[in-house]
Amino acid sequence: MRTQVGIIGAGPAGLLLSRMLAVQGIESVVLENRSRDYVEARIRAGILEQHTVDTLREVGMGARLDREGLEHDGIYLQYPGTRHKLDFPELCGRNVWIYGQSEVVKDLIAAQLDDGPPLLFEVSDVQPRDVDTDSPSIAFTDADGVAQVLECDVVAGTDGFHGVSRPIVTAATDGQLWERTYPFAWLGILADVAPSTDDLIYAWHPDGFAMHSMRSPSVSRLYIQVDPTEKIEDWSDDRIWEALATRMALPGWELQTGPVTEKSILPMRSFVSSPMRHGRLFLAGDAAHIVPPTGAKGLNLAVADVTLLARALVRLLAEKETDLADAYSDKALARVWRCTHFSWWMTSMLHTHGDDFDAQLQLSQLQRVCTSEAAARELAEMYTGLPVAL
Ligand code: FAD
Ligand code: PHB
Repeated sequence: MRTQVGIIGAGPAGLLLSRMLAVQGIESVVLENRSRDYVEARIRAGILEQHTVDTLREVGMGARLDREGLEHDGIYLQYPGTRHKLDFPELCGRNVWIYGQSEVVKDLIAAQLDDGPPLLFEVSDVQPRDVDTDSPSIAFTDADGVAQVLECDVVAGTDGFHGVSRPIVTAATDGQLWERTYPFAWLGILADVAPSTDDLIYAWHPDGFAMHSMRSPSVSRLYIQVDPTEKIEDWSDDRIWEALATRMALPGWELQTGPVTEKSILPMRSFVSSPMRHGRLFLAGDAAHIVPPTGAKGLNLAVADVTLLARALVRLLAEKETDLADAYSDKALARVWRCTHFSWWMTSMLHTHGDDFDAQLQLSQLQRVCTSEAAARELAEMYTGLPVAL
């Protein structure tokens, strides 16, 4: 098998990269080790920044998003006694959209299998080779158990945090890793109940953070901060609804409850790996960095990375110019660190951890964001998303 770009991983980063390259006449093959059903059922991010929506529309992936996505003009920040709306268009002229990552992935897979480049599910033993030469390849075993080699000009490592690509880059470049694990986790539920709010609520509470998001006019997505050692079996639906109602309580407002269709506990960490390239192997998305979900940045960062990477690869493969490929890692990392800071800041401001001094600092910061236009604008600019290249 031969192609121009061998892409490892059919998450949002790999699928969108393949689509962007196809639109510009560059061939690719996507290799995914899970099944289509598994990849489409994974419930993850929910907020799309303005640039992510613009990008999806530009590559012909905007039809269902425009029909079913929910455009939101702000979020609520809450602390006891106060629920304050940040109006994004007023503050920075941009919006965000609610459209689940699983829907983005379903749209990209449907388009790819319809008339797009090859996408192979359930492959195994994926191994990039000779990435420090101009003719790298990817060895793998296909779904029928047959050993294959995909020869290519470039390998894109979009295989997420646990993939095979990052260790190769780190080992070959003596690369640096930065990591922060947080002393809390999120317990998330999906529930068949109409959202009790028009916009997302991010709530600080002495018992811990709580958040109200949504997936559609009849499906709510909610989270509470829990200790990372908590077991999901110890959280009955009633106990979760009670914690949510307590932490988001506001006079005159009531949280509607309904059947819980999914619940899980997500650990929270920040992680950045540098550089994002070795030779002809380029990393993008969670393969290179992880952010805690409080800033809603993970999926959007993956989209920003592959937007830069697609430009660099078109220039490299169609125009034989190396300048954008050489600049890719530094350019992507500048944006990654800005979003890593924002995600850390939102996380630090909203999660309690038993320290009274820190709690007072958090409340002071929240009050500042809710009363100062300058402070609110900074949050709005970061939340709705920076331009792809800083
Ligand atoms: P992924 O989506 O991880 O895709 C990588 C793909 O590569 C996967 O399909 C994987 O199966 C495949 N793969 C891995 N190894 C191999 C291999 N060896 N060979 C072939 N294929 C391989 N972000 C938010 O902003 N908000 C949220 O609420 C949120 N919730 C999340 C919940 C969870 C449980 C997780 C894990 C992440 C969450 N995120 C959230 C982060 C967000 O989902 C990610 O940032 C986003 O998925 C990154 O996309 P990606 O394509 O880079 O990686
Ligand atoms: C979600 O809807 O799942 C969601 C929204 C905003 C976040 C995190 C998760 O910051």
